[in-house]
Amino acid sequence: MLENINQIIKNRRSIYPREFNGNPVSDEVIQVLLENANNAPNHKSNYPWRFVVITKEYVPQWIQKAIEITNASEPNVSEQKISKLTNIASQIGACIAIVWDKVEVNKHEIEDVCAIACAVQNMYLSLSQFEHVGGYWSTGLGTYNPSMSEFLKLTPQQQLLGFFVLGQVDHKRTEGVKKNVNQFVRYFNE
Ligand SMILES: Cc1cc2nc3c(=O)[nH]c(=O)nc-3n(C[C@H](O)[C@H](O)[C@H](O)COP(=O)(O)O)c2cc1C
Repeated sequence: MLENINQIIKNRRSIYPREFNGNPVSDEVIQVLLENANNAPNHKSNYPWRFVVITKEYVPQWIQKAIEITNASEPNVSEQKISKLTNIASQIGACIAIVWDKVEVNKHEIEDVCAIACAVQNMYLSLSQFEHVGGYWSTGLGTYNPSMSEFLKLTPQQQLLGFFVLGQVDHKRTEGVKKNVNQFVRYFNE
């Protein structure tokens, strides 16, 4: 179905693991997302992003690491939270870890992080062409824990900014409730 850009932006949704059907996300889909991510604007064309693809076969190891981190950092973690994490391991179809490579340390930090967010938005919007693939950006799942960076074999100059978690869905949700933009806007005047 040919949709215009306004409709694609409006229909973009974060689709969560509980909605995934457990099937793997193909490498063809992943390659389209990565190609489009790499076309995002970035300050002085410095390409601050790096992506680590976690295919379905490695998802259980990655989620196991997230569970270890949760157990270690939240001593009173509920059994419910752990079983929810255990369940998503079988539902997720692939994941793209979003990494910031701090090429020029402390020089353009804001620009770099903004550019990476643009790259992630390109991935989000690219999903509109795949009727049965959804995903969302997670900054949970052990994102800020150094042992997750170690698990992903990041270098000391790289920082994990989250995961673009992907899965196959039978029906992709598009409805969303958004606030009216006018409450966030004012036109400058003297
Ligand atoms: C930087 C960033 C981090 C996010 N991290 C999480 C997360 O850890 N867990 C989660 O459920 N959703 C996360 N989200 C998704 C938001 O919750 C989601 O975008 C918001 O609820 C609006 O829904 P929509 O994307 O369908 O419009 C994140 C989104 C962004 C932009």
